[in-house]
Amino acid sequence: MAEKKLEELPGVGPATADKLRDAGYTDLMSIAVESPKNLAEACEIGEAAAAKIIAAAKQAADVGGFEPGDVILERRQNLKKLTSCSKALDELMGGGFETQAIVEFFGEFGSGKTQLCFQLAVNATMPFEKGGLEGEVIVIDTENTFRPERIVQIANAMEMDPVETLHKIHVARAFNSSHQMLLVDKAMEMAKETKVTLMIVDSLTAHFRAEYVGRGALAERQQLLNKHMHDLLRFGDLNNAVIAVTNQVSSKPDAFFGDPTRPIGGHIVGHAATYRIYLRKSKGGKRIARLIDSPNLPEAEAVFSVSEEGIRD
Ligand code: GTP
Ligand code: MG
Repeated sequence: MAEKKLEELPGVGPATADKLRDAGYTDLMSIAVESPKNLAEACEIGEAAAAKIIAAAKQAADVGGFEPGDVILERRQNLKKLTSCSKALDELMGGGFETQAIVEFFGEFGSGKTQLCFQLAVNATMPFEKGGLEGEVIVIDTENTFRPERIVQIANAMEMDPVETLHKIHVARAFNSSHQMLLVDKAMEMAKETKVTLMIVDSLTAHFRAEYVGRGALAERQQLLNKHMHDLLRFGDLNNAVIAVTNQVSSKPDAFFGDPTRPIGGHIVGHAATYRIYLRKSKGGKRIARLIDSPNLPEAEAVFSVSEEGIRD
């Protein structure tokens, strides 16, 4: 469902809409849940005008609704698990990567985040019996690191037709963070006609990190990332898809998340991701995956390798 533009709210002209956006209120929900006082201060408008805008946003925002528990149960009974081709990693995840959930891979450059995404992309097109999801894949590529040649290698190693596999993997470059967020809406449209069972966002945070720099931009960055994560989770729920996102840990300390082993986006991304996996390099091309903050699985580690064939034990 396409959301109304800010300009379409009664009492909001182009100038006010710009003020709202500049202050970080880019969608109706963020306005609907704000207080008149805060909105008035942030946008330098009168409090009465702010109250009016909030009331209109409450009317227009897609606040969702309530669902009976049995409907939710039915949806959860459709949960599927996607294999990674590493037994150890699948076990760490309780038998594979679950649909209707977001998994966040975070780690330093070269830790294997993108390679894992490639393997999952190939695997998602496989039949259920082989640990696949019998569907197609959407990749939102923000760093131009998608390599079809690598998909061909991985597919060949799985004895799959590489061209057929590539045909099921739909890739879009995201040029900035707003474009990245819009592509989720686009994907939602596409999923009405195509069975999409895996969505990859590689990297989730790079554009946000580059565009929202410094203390003043932090609140806005977190607000947008929060919305983005919720859009992704909704995609996963509605399409019974796995959502895989990557997040590079800064090697130099961030002004706010000084600890270099902490991913950017901090607690916002952390709370919205269902599973977080910290990846690090080990000896001899091995990688160590550590599952942290899982709602239903113990904190533990798995060792896997990145090879010519893809991800293996
Ligand atoms: P950033 O995107 O820079 O943050 O890193 P990343 O975590 O996405 O790293 P990526 O998944 O791209 O991992 C790159 C590493 O995977 C390389 O340094 C290699 O060690 C390994 N790798 C990639 N392709 C191959 C391959 O064909 N054969 C082997 N053996 N290893 C590969
Ligand atoms: Mg990468």
